[in-house]
Amino acid sequence: MDLRVVRYPHPTLRYKSKPIRRVDFEFQSIVRRMFELMYEERGIGLAANQVDLPYRFFIINLSGDATQKDEEFVFINPEILAKKGTEEDKEGCLSLPGISAVVRRSAEIEISAYNLRGEEVHWRLKGLFARAFQHEYDHLDGTLFIDRLTPTRRWAVADLVDVLASEYASRVVTGTEPKEEEVFRRLAELEALRV
Ligand code: NI
Repeated sequence: MDLRVVRYPHPTLRYKSKPIRRVDFEFQSIVRRMFELMYEERGIGLAANQVDLPYRFFIINLSGDATQKDEEFVFINPEILAKKGTEEDKEGCLSLPGISAVVRRSAEIEISAYNLRGEEVHWRLKGLFARAFQHEYDHLDGTLFIDRLTPTRRWAVADLVDVLASEYASRVVTGTEPKEEEVFRRLAELEALRV
């Protein structure tokens, strides 16, 4: 499968992902390719929506370093079970290049998910790991970090967001990006394959 990171406002970024029922060899190669793309673009997390897939999983490597394999995590069908406190820090997103802003998140979270071996993990996360998890988890529900900003902070990045939107619109006109109905047809096909 040929994967690429899609940019705002690609419709898949607003799509509510569906749980995965099967982890097989093809799924593992999708995950491998996502790590490659994430490192190429210097990210620390990447959700399936961001590579135009309708599945409920994301990857994280807080080091952003391809050689640090023990820092690689795959969270399949993740859940946030509990949240504690709040914390503010700057975030960016590979689907919103050039934009960053301070986002309020829960300081600590309790999560569950499945890993690539099909084992259930149950962890407490805090700091950057908790933040990255919440950011990626939001993607699976079609939520972007710019949706979480205070009105003032949203206003501060509004022009940059508008530029991305108009660039995207012109790529649709020239056929570099597919039309919305094509995107949704493809997502429905992919969903039938794996969920
Ligand atoms: Ni993101």
